[in-house]
Amino acid sequence: MTETPQETLANLLSEDRTFPPSPEFTRSANVTESAYDEAAADRLAFWETQARRLDWTKEWDQTLDWSNPPFAKWFTGGELNVAVNCLDRHVEAGLGDRVAIHFEGEPGDTRTVTYAEMLDEVKRAANALTDLGVEAGDRVVIYMPMIPQAAVAMLACARIGAPHSVVFGGFSVDALSSRIEDAGAKVVITADGGFRKGKASALKPTVDAAAERCPSIEKVLVVRRTGEDVEWHDRDLWWHETVDTASNEHEARSFDAEHPLFILYTSGTTGRPKGILHTSGGYLTQTAYTHHAVFDLKPETDVYWCAADIGWVTGHSYVVYGPMANGATQVMYEGTPDTPHKGRIWEIVEKYGVSILYTAPTAIRTYMKWGDDIPDRFDLSSLRVLGSVGEPINPEAWMWYREHIGHDKCPVVDTWWQTETGAIMVSPLPGVTATKPGSAQRPLPGISVDVVDDEGESVPNGGGGFLTIREPWPSMLRTIWGDDQRFLDTYWSRFANMYFAGDGAKRDDDGDIWLLGRVDDVMLVSGHNISTTEVESALVSHDTVAEAAVVGATDPLTGQGIVAFVILRGATESSPEHLAELRGHVASTLGPIAKPRQVMVVSELPKTRSGKIMRRLLRDIAEDRKLGDVTTLQDSSVMARIKEGLQARSED
Ligand code: WT7
Repeated sequence: MTETPQETLANLLSEDRTFPPSPEFTRSANVTESAYDEAAADRLAFWETQARRLDWTKEWDQTLDWSNPPFAKWFTGGELNVAVNCLDRHVEAGLGDRVAIHFEGEPGDTRTVTYAEMLDEVKRAANALTDLGVEAGDRVVIYMPMIPQAAVAMLACARIGAPHSVVFGGFSVDALSSRIEDAGAKVVITADGGFRKGKASALKPTVDAAAERCPSIEKVLVVRRTGEDVEWHDRDLWWHETVDTASNEHEARSFDAEHPLFILYTSGTTGRPKGILHTSGGYLTQTAYTHHAVFDLKPETDVYWCAADIGWVTGHSYVVYGPMANGATQVMYEGTPDTPHKGRIWEIVEKYGVSILYTAPTAIRTYMKWGDDIPDRFDLSSLRVLGSVGEPINPEAWMWYREHIGHDKCPVVDTWWQTETGAIMVSPLPGVTATKPGSAQRPLPGISVDVVDDEGESVPNGGGGFLTIREPWPSMLRTIWGDDQRFLDTYWSRFANMYFAGDGAKRDDDGDIWLLGRVDDVMLVSGHNISTTEVESALVSHDTVAEAAVVGATDPLTGQGIVAFVILRGATESSPEHLAELRGHVASTLGPIAKPRQVMVVSELPKTRSGKIMRRLLRDIAEDRKLGDVTTLQDSSVMARIKEGLQARSED
């Protein structure tokens, strides 16, 4: 194509519903409009105020050192211990009996862990790790199910200054070994297995195989969870024989604010995994502040539940570090949402009186597909704030979440951030913002997010472009582990002096931000850049569509043509008239330029394990190519099933 498109990214969808918070909510909200003014008046002073939520053993000399961009240092010279901030200080304040975790195992076993118990176990685990030869700076890989010991393991590492790298428990030997190797880890903490989909699912054999490949591994510490038989090697130790018998006296030393806290490999849909490095003081400051501000946590009365796995950054920032720094009481659930029945999530909300729920659009769309009658059977009246993260949430799913889960009384906060940003960057504030279905709306106080065009100029209201971050933020990634050059190339080379996140976005007429998906997925149709998100949202707004994924396929006439894959509600077959109606529906919602060339009905979509649609694989199908790399697929057989299904249909 030689013709340069007029706009960077088209703005097609318009939404005029807004939902202001109730006056009662606003009256008791943790954060009010004035936070934006305060941060705008003096951004660094604002973050200093937030850093004072934490206990520092040594005050910092400088709030931000940005003398060598993009390598930021926050709170330089300051010292603290992250684990002490998450546990000891609450116990010292007399809150030892407060529940930290209501654990619900998939088979129905439960465990209540108070802050005092959590601290006791973290001290023992810290001593055990030290006895195994782990020193400050050494890397520990954690490969565990969602059980309290996973949080204990992370906090024990933090306590002794050993950066952890949590690897999602569903990942393969290849994925685990490449991460162990890249991090140079000497200890792995794992479990015999966990419970998923109604049965024990082993983890230890994967670690055994990885340890054979990775000479850096000296010891493997194993929690007994399922009780299934495991192979045993000289390097292996049982948690219950090692941690339970270790001393519960542990003097925590403080670490520099910039001491590495963890490495987390991104769940990216392409390429070699990147070890995102986060450090201590700035990270804990922003996770604690945003958890307080965005979820309006009242630690004395709220029961908080973030349904993410600790293998993702959401599990780091909003299960372990943010909530525990704030002394929250939370629910932790081990299993899948449909075991033993499709109401499990709502049953747990009712049982523990969950008041704040944080989950992903892919989960919300799944619950929608299962039917309204399921949540309707449970008492969800304890809920007061609902959060969404991980993907753009289409207005239809947002409205369903608000109506069927929140019963029209809970603010819905759509939170945009990334593994790289460490904490929430763009989100409504529940006591301040009149929310709009599908929009993440405003950068949080103290955060400078912009939407820019190809040249890096801010787009006006109504325009689309690239989401960038203009000023350093406390919880930003510090580098890619062992690869500063890749850090520069990946995030800082597209635009001068700006972090580019990889996402497309638009500003609506009020200046609110809408995320439009990864720019790699943007479709170029007759000179217009059209986001996958808008077309997918339009499809899902049709009564018969439960989920949709669209891709641009090479087209001789238009450059690319829009090809849509849809999952129907309660049906697996369609008719030519129905498909024509869906194409027409998109055209009438977004304009004729966005009309799909083709709509295909499928029963599943290819997703990563964190629930993101892998559009590149759908593009292979749409262009009738041999399938690309499928290793990060949640379920590798899904592509074959999609292809078979399409063939069967085109033949009959
Ligand atoms: C990518 C980051 C953030 C923790 C979980 C995912 C997409 C995330 C939203 C949102 C639109 C979103 C972006 C982002 N994303 N939240 N609220 N609206 N898109 O972390 O695996 O690092 O993925 O997820 O594309 O860049 P991650």
